Amino acid sequence: MTLEVHHTIAGIAAQTHEWRAQRLRIGFVPTMGNLHDGHIDLFRTLRPHCDRMVCSIFANPLQFGEGEDFGMYPRTLEADMERLTEIECDSLFAPSVDAMYGLLGMSHTKVSVKHMNNRYCGAFREGHFIGVATVVNKLFNIVLPHVAVFGEKDFQQLAVIRQMVSDLSMSVDIIGSPTYRDASGLALSSRNQYLTADEKVVAAELYKVLCDIRNKVNRASDSELESTVSNLIANGKARLEEMGFRPDYLDVANALTLAPFSVDSRELVVLVAARLGKARLIDNVHFVRER
Ligand code: PAJ
Repeated sequence: MTLEVHHTIAGIAAQTHEWRAQRLRIGFVPTMGNLHDGHIDLFRTLRPHCDRMVCSIFANPLQFGEGEDFGMYPRTLEADMERLTEIECDSLFAPSVDAMYGLLGMSHTKVSVKHMNNRYCGAFREGHFIGVATVVNKLFNIVLPHVAVFGEKDFQQLAVIRQMVSDLSMSVDIIGSPTYRDASGLALSSRNQYLTADEKVVAAELYKVLCDIRNKVNRASDSELESTVSNLIANGKARLEEMGFRPDYLDVANALTLAPFSVDSRELVVLVAARLGKARLIDNVHFVRER
């Protein structure tokens, strides 16, 4: 099987229109490339839900802020194509910025899932989720997938996409795929390449801090929940700082809305974003409260 590669909107759209006409179910994994095992795992999640698998590789300038790593974001198209061929992905859409956004290199129309813009990563990366929602909306319009898979690693991104699809009545099923970790517990990310070997050892502690908070939240009774969480967050941040992280946020939220949790919230998520060396790492653990 060969991987069909398209660099133009017209090219990929013609392909997916043909599949639709044949009543084939189209599955989609949008990425920014530099594919690692975490990305590849999304295709394992997707495969049973579709007849044809499409991947997109596009480092989207709209979602990078000033001073962020758009320029140095790792671009490894040849190696990515090899991996996609190995896993029998059917089609790759890999447009240039011009092909996506024209000569202006931007989009006049933006999609904003408003309440997410000033929460968690939205508060620290201005315009980030507007860039994500806009490009994913555009990619959905181009590829017209029946089903698309996103990683739970980017928990807030997944919440933004689900909200957009629901608010705009888009006819695509969204599937969340569990965070893929290495043996140390570190969530795989293209940005882990910015870490030194020593920093990687420290980075693995992030997940342990999250799991520790989850376990203690699970043991707390309703009446102690609020005070337990605020102590755990304060202690967790202090632990991270001692280890050399510079946390942007560490919090427990309602997993469905990312709003502040209450004792009635059954599904919770512990969320973190922290800088370590040159990297900004994000991770989360979501769970159903045991009592
Ligand atoms: P990117 O960072 O390349 O990630 C592409 C997809 O892979 C996202 O759904 C992300 O959550 C998932 N992913 C990355 N690392 C993962 C891991 N360790 N475990 C599970 N899933 C993982 O996210 C983006 O690109 C962009 O914002 C995009 C959605 C493509 C829009 O530009």
